[in-house]
Amino acid sequence: MTDLAIIGGTGLTSLDGLEITHKQVLYTPYGATSAPIVHGMYGGKSVVFLARHGARHTIPPHKINYRANIWALKELGVKTVLAVAAVGSINPKMVASDLVIPHQLIDYTWSRDHTFFADDLTHVTHVDFTSPYCEDLRQVLLNAAKSLDFHVHTEGVYGATQGPRLETTAEIDRMERDGCDLVGMTGMPEAVLARELDLCYAACAVIANPAAGRGAPEITMADIEAALELGMDRVRTLLGNVLSLISTAPV
Ligand code: HPA
Repeated sequence: MTDLAIIGGTGLTSLDGLEITHKQVLYTPYGATSAPIVHGMYGGKSVVFLARHGARHTIPPHKINYRANIWALKELGVKTVLAVAAVGSINPKMVASDLVIPHQLIDYTWSRDHTFFADDLTHVTHVDFTSPYCEDLRQVLLNAAKSLDFHVHTEGVYGATQGPRLETTAEIDRMERDGCDLVGMTGMPEAVLARELDLCYAACAVIANPAAGRGAPEITMADIEAALELGMDRVRTLLGNVLSLISTAPV
């Protein structure tokens, strides 16, 4: 596998340890990316980094230009996309600061530009999405996690909600009945757009808080930030191992 992009979310708007070579502003047929694409070396390997919510974390989940972001990465020659995302936990076995490599998702988002196959079509396209995450990259992540001194959950069902508000207890109850382990706001349409452009895409979810009704009576940004500090340290450790397992070529 070569040519890796990392999309960072809340808690990871820049990648400490990335030796930046240059930044690139890219316009796509869908508009501008969330932030300039950052090119650099991480753990001796070439990677590109994109801050999903913008370089100053100002773009809310429902306003992210997912199509521009994914299109730009494809345009650059990226083959593999590792998405890092903060989530709430529904499954009680998954606790604050834990990492989870999801294997399935359910999409509860609405009114987002969720496909490249919308206009000027010569034929209708239905991409296969039976397994929404690239199993090759999931396996790299799971192998990279083996030698770590913290546990990484090897599976999870990610429920993508619209945001930017957090959920109600009843919504989380419904998601639990549906089989969701995690709740986040950015997993879709990012994953399907990557699939539409034939990119190998997987996610590393970082638990920021117990979901609504599963922990404290109220979810505060302070609690989320505290859990993400340790969680993102763990992500950086995992990434170091991931990069030692894969080869990347400059894009
Ligand atoms: N819900 C949705 N998205 C989130 C949450 C949550 O509880 N925590 C972090 N991202």
